[in-house]
Amino acid sequence: MVVVTTRKGRVAKPISRRTVFKMGLATGIAVPMSALGQSPNRLRPQPGDQLVFEEGPNQDALVRPELLELEKRPLSALARDPETQVLRDGSRLNRIMIMRIDPELMSARYQANVAEGVIAYSAVCTHTGCDVTNWDEGQLRMACPCHESQFDIYDGAKVVGGPAPRPLAMLPLEVVDGIVLVAAGFRGRVGFTQQF
Ligand code: FES
Repeated sequence: MVVVTTRKGRVAKPISRRTVFKMGLATGIAVPMSALGQSPNRLRPQPGDQLVFEEGPNQDALVRPELLELEKRPLSALARDPETQVLRDGSRLNRIMIMRIDPELMSARYQANVAEGVIAYSAVCTHTGCDVTNWDEGQLRMACPCHESQFDIYDGAKVVGGPAPRPLAMLPLEVVDGIVLVAAGFRGRVGFTQQF
């Protein structure tokens, strides 16, 4: 509800999402997505979010660098708001794959996204959207089970095989008090369309 002033005084009126959006455009003031009705669990990982393992021996635990082994199979994880404890599991586009690498081998342009050797890429293949869950341990590549696209983990998930048209989106990370946090929003477009 918003309060508007008329000749008869101040009255409360319902406000639509479209109106909220237009107000943001008209005033230049950013309108939070939550104000538009987007559930917190559907929001993409936000700066300051913690990460929680979705699988593996530390399932449901917060991600810490020492819980990941160097150059082993990436594990799926989700972001969690540290204040509300809301897990951002409302969209499959929020799933990420995390892994531990040797930071010195990472391409220079992606170094800033690495946190004590931990990196994160979107799990969603840029071809037709399957989860990129396979792992080529010999070549250190993430691989898509659907049409065999392969992604170089040391070069920003650059496509090195298969039909995927572009790299996986990368999620910049940082470590604060031993816990891996999201440092910024995804670098690159997540998924294969913008329609989710
Ligand atoms: S969906 Fe991944 S290669 Fe086709």
